[in-house]
Amino acid sequence: MRHQLALLLTILVQFSHSQDEKRCLLRFFPIAPAEDYKFATGDTCFFMSSPFWLNIPAIKRRTLVKIIDGKQFPISYTIDPDGREVFFDYENQTALEHIQTLYLQEAYFKKWYDCANAAMDCCLNHLTEENMQPDEDHPCPALWDGYTCYGKTKAGTTVYNLCPSYIRTADDLICNLESEKYCLTDGWNQVTNYNTCVDAPIYRKRNGFHLICLYVSVAVIFPAILIYLSFPKLKILRIALHRNLLIAIFIKNVLVILSKNLIILDALEGDKGNKLMISNSIGCRVLAFFENLSKNLIFTCMSADAFYLHKLIVRPFATDPNILIFYSIVVVFSALPSLIWAGLMGAREMENCWMVDTETWYIWITDGYKYAMLIINAILLVDIIRVLLTKLGKGGNKKQTRSALKATIILLPLFGIPLLITSQRDLFDSRDCTKSDIYYYITYAIEAAQGILLAVFFCYLNQDVHKEIANFYRKLDTKFRQRFGYSERMRRSTACTKSTKY
Ligand SMILES: *[C@@H]1O[C@H](CO)[C@@H](O)[C@H](O)[C@H]1NC(C)=O
Ligand SMILES: *[C@@H]1O[C@H](CO)[C@@H](O)[C@H](O)[C@H]1NC(C)=O
Repeated sequence: MRHQLALLLTILVQFSHSQDEKRCLLRFFPIAPAEDYKFATGDTCFFMSSPFWLNIPAIKRRTLVKIIDGKQFPISYTIDPDGREVFFDYENQTALEHIQTLYLQEAYFKKWYDCANAAMDCCLNHLTEENMQPDEDHPCPALWDGYTCYGKTKAGTTVYNLCPSYIRTADDLICNLESEKYCLTDGWNQVTNYNTCVDAPIYRKRNGFHLICLYVSVAVIFPAILIYLSFPKLKILRIALHRNLLIAIFIKNVLVILSKNLIILDALEGDKGNKLMISNSIGCRVLAFFENLSKNLIFTCMSADAFYLHKLIVRPFATDPNILIFYSIVVVFSALPSLIWAGLMGAREMENCWMVDTETWYIWITDGYKYAMLIINAILLVDIIRVLLTKLGKGGNKKQTRSALKATIILLPLFGIPLLITSQRDLFDSRDCTKSDIYYYITYAIEAAQGILLAVFFCYLNQDVHKEIANFYRKLDTKFRQRFGYSERMRRSTACTKSTKY
C-alpha cells in the first residue's frame, strides 16, 4: 500500500511539473502520460503473450487503476519473489531481469520486449496531440491497439498492417500476413482482426504436403531395396553402391517423417502441443542429429558411387577397395559436419530440439560439405568422359561404361539442382505467401523425386535387375513344372503364363 501511494505521489508530482508532457493513446483508454502509457502497453504486451510462452506458476499480477480525465486507466504490475512491485517497463533493468523469468524461453521474452519497444516507438514517433483527436472526417484517432500502431483514419476504411513478428509462435516470418482493423463511422471497431496473422495453418499445409511426398518416395524406394537385398548377384560392389544410395535416401526420408510427425507438427499445435520441442529432450536432439547425418550420407554415398565407377573405367585393373574400410570412410566423412554442428549447438545450449536454425551460417557446415561432394562428383565425371573419349573405338566393356556414365550424369543434376535451390533460399524467398507456398511445394516435390527417380533408374529400369528377376522366374517356373509336371491343369496354366510372357 505504501509503495502504491509513493508511486502515485511521484507520478502526480511529475505531472504537475510539466504541462505539455508527452501523452499517448492506448486503445479505448484515456490519453495518458507517456510513462503510464509505457507501463500499460508493456502490460498489454505481456497479457497478450500466448499462455504457452509463460512460466505460469511464477506470475502474480495486480492492477493499479489510475483516474485520467475522469476515466479509469488500469496498469497491471507483477510481484517479484522479494515482494517488490515490478511494472512492465522495458527500459528498467531490474524489471527486465524479473520479467525474463516469467517466460519459458529467452525467445518469447524477446517477443515481449519487441512489442513493448514498438509501443513506445509508436508513442514517441507517431502519436501526436493532434492526430489522437478524432474529427468529423477521421472518426478513428491514431493509437496503439496493443500490437500495432495506427494513424488517424477515415470512416469506412479497412487498414491492413503487417503482422508483427512478436505475435507469432514461429520465429521467422514465413511470409507477409496482414492484420485488419476497421474504421466505422463512429470510431474504430474495438477488436483488430489478428486471426489472419496465424501462420500455423500455412506451415501445417506445407508440412502435410511434404509428408505426402515423403510417404510416396518411401513407398517407391522400399521394394527396390528389397529387390537389391534378395538377389545375391546384385550384391557386387558396383550395384551395391547404388543400393546404398537408395538406402541412405530411405533412411533420411524415414527420419524426416519421424521428426515432422513427432516434433514439428506437434509444435504447430501451439495450445495442445509443442511439448516435445520445448522439452528439448535427448531423444529429440539425437533424432535431429541423425536426420542431419543421413542428409550428408546421401551425398557421400553419391560420391562413393561415382568414385568406384571412376575406378572401374579409369583404373580397371586396380584392386577393389576393402569394403569395410570403404564404408567406414563414407560414414566417418558424413558424420564429421554433423558432429561439428552438434558440437556448436551443444556448446551454445541450443533449444527447440535443435530443429530451429538460429545462426544462419550454421547451415553452411553441412551445405558446404554437400557442395564439396558435388564438386568431387563433377571432377570424376569429367575424368570419366575424358577417358571414355580416348578409349573410344578401342572397344571395352560397354555395359560398365554406360552404367558409369548414366550414374554420374543422373546423380549430378539430381542432387545438385535441389541443393542449389534450398541453400540459396534467399534468392527465391518471397514475402508473398502464395509465391513462397509454391516455392516450398516445388522443393518438396523435387526432394521426393530424387528417391523415386533413383529407384526407377537404378532398380526398376536396370538391366542387371531385370536379368535377375527373369532368372528367378525361370527357376520358379522350372521348379513348378517339376513338381506339378503330371498335372494337366497346371501345365495348361503355366503354358498360359508363358504365352503372355513372350
Ligand atoms: C526499476 O524497477 C524496480 C523494481 O520495480 C524499481 O524498484 C526501480 O525504482 C525502478 N527503477 C527506475 C529507474 O524506474
Ligand atoms: C543440419 O546441420 C546444419 C548445420 O550445418 C543445420 O543448419 C541444419 O538445420 C541441420 N538440419 C537438421 C534437419 O537437423
